[in-house]
Amino acid sequence: IKVLCVVGARPNFMKIAPIMRAIQNASHRIEATLLHTGQHYDAAMKTAFFDQLHIPEPDIDLGVGSGSHTVQTAEIMLRFEPVLDDLKPTAVLVLGDVNSTIACALVAVKKGIPVIHVEAGLRSYDRGMPEEVNRVLTDQISDLLFTTERSAEGNLAREGIDTSRVHFVGNVMIDTLLYNLDRAVNPAEMIADLACTTQQASFQKGYALVTMHRPSNVDNPGNLKSLLQTLGKISTQMPLIFPIHPRTAQRIKENGFESLIESNRIIQLPPQGYLELLGLMKQAKLVLTDSGGIQEETTALGVPCVTLRENTERPITADEGTNTVVGIDPQAIHACVDNILQTGGKSGRVPEYWDGKAAERIVEVIASWAAENTSGAI
Ligand code: UD1
Repeated sequence: IKVLCVVGARPNFMKIAPIMRAIQNASHRIEATLLHTGQHYDAAMKTAFFDQLHIPEPDIDLGVGSGSHTVQTAEIMLRFEPVLDDLKPTAVLVLGDVNSTIACALVAVKKGIPVIHVEAGLRSYDRGMPEEVNRVLTDQISDLLFTTERSAEGNLAREGIDTSRVHFVGNVMIDTLLYNLDRAVNPAEMIADLACTTQQASFQKGYALVTMHRPSNVDNPGNLKSLLQTLGKISTQMPLIFPIHPRTAQRIKENGFESLIESNRIIQLPPQGYLELLGLMKQAKLVLTDSGGIQEETTALGVPCVTLRENTERPITADEGTNTVVGIDPQAIHACVDNILQTGGKSGRVPEYWDGKAAERIVEVIASWAAENTSGAI
């Protein structure tokens, strides 16, 4: 069978790496073609991940680039259709919740090509998040749905999705984390390269890692200002390392907020590669983030995570893991950080099936599904 695997944005790259590897290692005759939509294209947002994670160069690059949600989604759809006409894959595999995910799933389903969704069923129940819309719609049109945590099965059942299509397999993001943990870049090296001696001394005593890019936090100038001011105050307690996503960097510049985080206790970095960020997370005293994936990665690493959002689509990270969802109220953030600094934070446990073998389970299920649903192609 021929599976056309789609990636588009940074979080997709970490998820596809173990799937490509599992397909290659499997005894089943599954032929994978890798397509990159081009949603993320900068070296820091794309190439670093392909190189570090040994993801094969995409067979096809649609080169769509940036744009409004409508432009980006529509452009991916327009460019994806002729690829399907040409390749005629048995199935299209999409990951996560980015615009590339829904765009390619929608084109495939309209052409009668089965859709496989990896990381299905997560719900924040916040339709203001573009990703939530992408998740709900992709799940509705998928034939095979792979979930990372048990809560996803209930969400999908409530939306009327046939449970026989849903398979709880664990978390491919954590496959990547476990596979690469020993290769993580030591933050001391990064700090030595960047910081002056006094900074190095203060960072050696421990630091908090910060990441932030959600439109609700960074596109709203009031929210962005308040968050940056809060970070400024936290940096007086503990130095911060802040790799800045391109969206966030643009908004800080547009609003003239640079001075709010100019401090020798805040190291600002460009977006980091996978192994650099893994090292930064692993050694952090705590992580402040609005990312989805980092809530999961910190849970797997046992590092306390303060989520700067009102909700999470990954509740297991808070129920079982080290995550606390605090929102963006400064007092709530300070209270949570103080608590972690005083008590060490939640201890947490690693969720079921976050064991490094999710991709292998996915490939097994795809192989059995293909044997049942395609005319002896496998
Ligand atoms: C996208 C995903 C989000 C994911 C995030 C991870 C959607 C709806 N959002 O958000 O779920 O958490 O990726 O990074 O798909 N840009 C660059 N270089 C690049 C790519 C983008 O500078 O390689 C800049 C562009 O100015 C662009 C902006 O970042 O307009 C936003 O990029 P976009 O892909 O639209 O959304 P993200 O905020 O990255």
